[in-house]
Amino acid sequence: MPQKNKKPLVSIIMGSQSDYSTMKYTEDTLKSLKIRFETKIISAHRTPKRLFEFATKAEKNNVSVIIAGAGGSAHLPGMVAAITPIPVIGVPIESKRLKGLDSLLSIIQMPKGIPVGSVAIGKDGAINAALYAVSILSVGDKNIKSKLKQLRAKQTKSVKKKT
Ligand code: RP5
Repeated sequence: MPQKNKKPLVSIIMGSQSDYSTMKYTEDTLKSLKIRFETKIISAHRTPKRLFEFATKAEKNNVSVIIAGAGGSAHLPGMVAAITPIPVIGVPIESKRLKGLDSLLSIIQMPKGIPVGSVAIGKDGAINAALYAVSILSVGDKNIKSKLKQLRAKQTKSVKKKT
């Protein structure tokens, strides 16, 4: 019997340990759907060599989607997307001074040629980044698609008919 592939399908990366309080929601969401992932701290400006090494090896490591949380002048998702063709979803971290507007604009305003997906600032974005990654994975995997549909059906049921 061939060994089941245990390699992560999703890489969660973030610019700083301080981003983890937001990015843990991405982890929790992937865990709840039993999607294999890895988590790394990679900073575009503090550890540029680590960034380059990660992004150049991601394809060979069979990573399907990269989720990158970054705050402030959030260049991490764009830098990674410039190196690898794997889809990158950026999570704008709520920054101290500008409440994450800086992070959001840095991520969504990528010039043409290198796209980066973006979700909302903070916790909601972190959860949706995971769900968006799962949705991308579901295109080629019936089992994942069924898990996603079940989750949505559960969500629908949780809405009361009347207040
Ligand atoms: C970015 O700088 C990180 O993504 C983080 O959101 C922000 C602040 O980092 P710390 O100063 O908290 O390490 O690189």
